[in-house]
Amino acid sequence: MEVVICSSAGEAGSLAADKVAAVLTDAAPRAVLGVATGSSPLALYNSLAHRVADGELDLRDVAAFALDEYVGLAPGHPQSYASVIDATVTRPLGLDPNLVHVPEGFASDIEAAAVAYEEEIRDVGGIDVQILGVGVNGHIGFNEPTSSLASRTRIKTLTETTRSDNARFFDGIDQVPTHCLTQGLGTIMEATEIVLVAQGAEKADAIAALVEGPVSAICPGSVLQLHRRVTIVVDEPAAAKLSLADYYRATFAKKPAWQQFRTAR
Ligand code: GLP
Repeated sequence: MEVVICSSAGEAGSLAADKVAAVLTDAAPRAVLGVATGSSPLALYNSLAHRVADGELDLRDVAAFALDEYVGLAPGHPQSYASVIDATVTRPLGLDPNLVHVPEGFASDIEAAAVAYEEEIRDVGGIDVQILGVGVNGHIGFNEPTSSLASRTRIKTLTETTRSDNARFFDGIDQVPTHCLTQGLGTIMEATEIVLVAQGAEKADAIAALVEGPVSAICPGSVLQLHRRVTIVVDEPAAAKLSLADYYRATFAKKPAWQQFRTAR
């Protein structure tokens, strides 16, 4: 794991965007991007959107796959992840909506939708770079604590912690769906590169457990320790509980350019 500690959310977004843009450019013309919802990646998306607007980056041919979706929200519901991805990713980044995929949380046969989603990812040759946030309980995607480290796309019950965290987007917790359809940890682990972003003191415990704790289903994000190409980009408050923060800072300071601290192949 490469841990990069940034002084601001803007710097974190820009560095994470450097990494994502480099992988997508390398993988062109058939690049595949894995996208996450939530507030954590917004600065990253913003930085990518600026590059697209300036003509530095063209993502029209990039296929994208979302990590997860609520089960049971009507299509077009403003808080469905399909709507959120459209507003925060597809439009600002200039992606082709026909190439953007979100699990079908409103499908009548959820298990078939889960299998179909895995096939869609496989059919494009897998994800080149997966963007991740992390929940305060260590979840990635919607893989809640005790998720199998080998899990595939499936229906999951949301924890009350997650429902309560996400209630801010709804008219109260009663409106937050109880279930979701999420890529599994095994699915996420097949992405070639992974870039995880986190900001704020409320993520400090999750980041410490994910980076330095034991690999354990109680912190699902800790499975990333077994992946060879993971970059964790955090701000100072999110890094506050990392015992080796000084080591990560020194490692980063000795590497002058982003490409030079790419994770070892
Ligand atoms: C949500 C999403 C995750 C996201 C996480 C953190 O529930 N399913 O993909 O990473 O929770 O969200 P935020 O970035 O808003 O803190």
